[in-house]
Amino acid sequence: MKKIGDCPYLIDRIEAARKGCVVGGKVVVFKSTGSTNDIAWAYAGNSAYHGLCVLAEQQTAGRGRRGRTWHSRPGESILCSVLLIDTPIEAELLTLTAAVATAEAVCSFCRVNAGIKWPNDILVNGKKLAGILVEKRTIGGRVCFVVGIGVNCNQTDQAFVDGRLRLPATSLRIETGAIVDRTALTCTLMAALEEWLDRALAGMACPANPVIERWAQLSTLLGRHITVECDNRTFSGFCRGIDPTDGLIVQLDAGAIRTFAAPYTSIVRTGQSNEINQR
Ligand code: BTN
Repeated sequence: MKKIGDCPYLIDRIEAARKGCVVGGKVVVFKSTGSTNDIAWAYAGNSAYHGLCVLAEQQTAGRGRRGRTWHSRPGESILCSVLLIDTPIEAELLTLTAAVATAEAVCSFCRVNAGIKWPNDILVNGKKLAGILVEKRTIGGRVCFVVGIGVNCNQTDQAFVDGRLRLPATSLRIETGAIVDRTALTCTLMAALEEWLDRALAGMACPANPVIERWAQLSTLLGRHITVECDNRTFSGFCRGIDPTDGLIVQLDAGAIRTFAAPYTSIVRTGQSNEINQR
């Protein structure tokens, strides 16, 4: 069995695997940095860095959605940020695209059954395996995005005994019993992100975007009775789908249909499926 120390990031292997590709065609790796998203932003003024992948063994100020902190210990996770310059997509659809790509990458690489809890959590067996943070800025007149992805790879149960966790957490090592080659999984993740980004962009002209269709298959919420918190109010109803711009579509218990935008919404409870929309 490989020890974690035997498989640090091998930048040459990633660059060779991603040669000629956009996502991950250029790679930088840090032993330790504040947040890989911030490093990616520092390159955003130069369009030659479109697709750049920033990786770190450890982050000292990793951030998550809604101002949360993303904790990581050295060498246990994939901590990566991909810079996209002038890519004509909405942040909401890009988050779904990255979630689909991440879920598919871990499913194919580790044979786990991953699902997406809208908008940005990747779950395995009901526990959080990965998270996505998409940030958008306009730099030099160009709309840029940084897609930050954190995947728990080689943590043992000990890493998650912290009572401050919002969701119970897991890692690929806990789920499969095997240590993960993070370099190889990073290559799979970059390939999946490029593939799904291409599909998302091509699908924007179509009535049904393939990302939304795949999201529906991977969703842990679709058809379930959920409770969401939005603008300090609580709403309950059945999750009916996703709108690529407006967010989660919920049929409230009183009957009305309402959408909830990701930046203002948290899922506070997930209940049972109803009979019409079983997964
Ligand atoms: C979340 O679950 O709220 C999103 C977590 C995103 C974490 C990743 S780790 C790499 C990148 N750098 C950051 O500071 N955050 C993202």
